[in-house]
Amino acid sequence: MNILLVGSGGREHALAWKIAASPLVTRFVAAPGNPGMAAQCELRGVAATDVAGLVGLAKEIAADLVVIGPETAVDAGLGDALAAAGIACFGPSAQAGQLESSKAFTKAFCDRYGLPTSAYAVCESAAEAKTALDRFEPPYVIKADGLAAGKGVVIAPERAEAEAAIDDAFGGRFGAAGARVVIEEFLEGEIGSLFALCDGKDSMVFGWAQDHKRAFDGEQGPNTGGMGTYSPAPVFTPELVEQVRTRLVEPAFAGIAADGAPYRGVLFVELMATKHGPKLVEFNVRFGDPECQVLMLRLESDLVPYLQACAEGRLSQMPPPVWSDESAVCVVVAAKGYPGTPAAGGEIRGTEANFGAGQVVFHAGTKRDAEGVLRAAGGRVLNVCARGATLREARDRAYAAVDAIDFADGFCRRDIGWRAL
Ligand code: GLY
Repeated sequence: MNILLVGSGGREHALAWKIAASPLVTRFVAAPGNPGMAAQCELRGVAATDVAGLVGLAKEIAADLVVIGPETAVDAGLGDALAAAGIACFGPSAQAGQLESSKAFTKAFCDRYGLPTSAYAVCESAAEAKTALDRFEPPYVIKADGLAAGKGVVIAPERAEAEAAIDDAFGGRFGAAGARVVIEEFLEGEIGSLFALCDGKDSMVFGWAQDHKRAFDGEQGPNTGGMGTYSPAPVFTPELVEQVRTRLVEPAFAGIAADGAPYRGVLFVELMATKHGPKLVEFNVRFGDPECQVLMLRLESDLVPYLQACAEGRLSQMPPPVWSDESAVCVVVAAKGYPGTPAAGGEIRGTEANFGAGQVVFHAGTKRDAEGVLRAAGGRVLNVCARGATLREARDRAYAAVDAIDFADGFCRRDIGWRAL
């Protein structure tokens, strides 16, 4: 079959690596892709939000399936346009995508369908948001309502910092995404990421992982899109997985279908395991980045039939996925300055080294210059991943690979997986 994969980050490189290993694939194209993905597929320079261009490309290559990586493509309406063109698509409609594209929508959705989440206030102005802080205890959680590439969340220990974050958002730091702000109760507990597939009616849990959100070791520094992941994560006991499935996953899929937007694709449930059970932190309408990387390393089953079954309404015919008993770790190497202003253009050497078994380097934000030199082109630049018989072995292998790469402008956390170790 012919597949078009949309996106250009580390998540998409991990998906490309796994899709390319499928014996079902005849032609495999990614748009726009990244230099690392060139090892797995043909790259075509169509942006992830160029809906007309992507529908045209899907027709040109006679795609049997389009796989949407990033939320920006969901929000741009790619799933809807592909459905209108009669092309099978793994990825939800823009209406269902509101579960990620508007935090205010999701909070109201949780109220409507009884999903457990934190107390909140939706604020339309800085003055309203500052007054709303009175109703919350520190630390204050301030979120831009819209899509902000994982950078729209501030956890402020002090009120002055919370007010500054509110001013920043309404001052335009996140563009239109910050025109509305959601203030949330801070949840105590352990955070986790669980994934579930849905084909519009049937659903299936599809793995879990734990991410490190803060930029620096010891959970210090600003929130990021994620600095490293590991899977399996001990927080996900069978009891917790079952609670998340029945209290969050199934009500979410039933609710969004009742709203008239049956879900096709993967739903990423970011949750806090609290002493009162799991509570929703947020939904994302795509695989996590960098959670996807460790899931793909541990997934023994062929991914393609699952993506296709979601697109074609046949998920009930699929067996549960098979996961390796091994652990996987992903270390994000970011450009210095991330998540603020990352150093641009730093040279990277050594990513094509012959790493050992189970070590993989995914590109997340790279480009080749006119001379073919690999350079940083984003905040999160590389995802250095490894598998091992134990989490410690996987982590040691991942850091050995990090140390073999020469990227003077980069940094990474050195404590990925500390909670489980
Ligand atoms: N790692 C969190 C995210 O993908 O948003």
